[in-house]
Amino acid sequence: MANKPVILVTRKLPSAVETRLRRDYDARLNPDDRLYSEHQLIERAQGARAILPCHTEHFSADVIRRLPAEVKIIANFSVGFDHVDIEAAKKKGIVVTNTPDVLSDATAELTMMLMIGAARRAGEGERLVREDKWKDWSPAFMVGTQVTSKRLGILGMGRVGQVVARRARGFDMQIHYHDARRLPPEKELGAVFHKSVEDMLPHCDFLTVHCNVTPETRGLMNARRFALLPPGAIFVNAARGAIVDDDALVAALESGRLRAAGIDAYNNEPHVDKRLLGLANTFLMPHIGSATLETRDAMGFRALDNLDAYFAGKQPRDRVA
Ligand code: DGY
Repeated sequence: MANKPVILVTRKLPSAVETRLRRDYDARLNPDDRLYSEHQLIERAQGARAILPCHTEHFSADVIRRLPAEVKIIANFSVGFDHVDIEAAKKKGIVVTNTPDVLSDATAELTMMLMIGAARRAGEGERLVREDKWKDWSPAFMVGTQVTSKRLGILGMGRVGQVVARRARGFDMQIHYHDARRLPPEKELGAVFHKSVEDMLPHCDFLTVHCNVTPETRGLMNARRFALLPPGAIFVNAARGAIVDDDALVAALESGRLRAAGIDAYNNEPHVDKRLLGLANTFLMPHIGSATLETRDAMGFRALDNLDAYFAGKQPRDRVA
């Protein structure tokens, strides 16, 4: 045990992942799943050579500067790494890894649920039945909009975007996409590539965002871009809240420019903008895109594979810094 590297694990992980952690490392676990403050995080990292965090811990330049010098790797339990100041980590010589691929199916599933839930008014319907307020049925009752055969715009055609496209084809949707790079024909499968976001937006009955947070994508969906969508479009976000300007989203939902929105990722989580909570045409989930048993195990094992590689003196497969 004494020779095993100390790993600070910030959140409670699936039991199979914690079993492997205990077997191979001197794991400092968090059985109560408490959210650590910055101060607690830094304190608990004393003596650790690695940290295995989630996106709930924020590694700002200041936090990274205050981490003990022995911490050499941040092996994230997440595909997104916008919670880590990558430049600060590089400067301090800290390796950073993520967990790509393994959550694409689960996130695409949730994206489909958000699309359908927003289009078919699932939140409203559920509340009505659950609160015992459902009194009648008529042809005019709870009419939504159909998903089948509509045009779907995918902003960011990476791993998750491509799985969403595959699932959406099962609903006969026509796929449009924008990404920095055009896919080869065998991956594009007839999807229409648009060189700019602005070119794509007028073609989207549904728009779903699947891009990373970068200086270019932060606040990308602003008032000007929402106004380019066809009236009555449906907006879906299972990626990151930072891609969206909340004032613009709320205004588009209030004016009816957007018929509805399905959202799983927010600015300032878990404190969701109260205006979104008050709107009937939002279908809201609490950042659970990757929350399946299968995916959470796979994310943990992928993070451990990265740690194992690092401590074996090899290049971790998912190194992002
Ligand atoms: C991810 O992996 O980035 C998900 O949002 C969960 O953190």
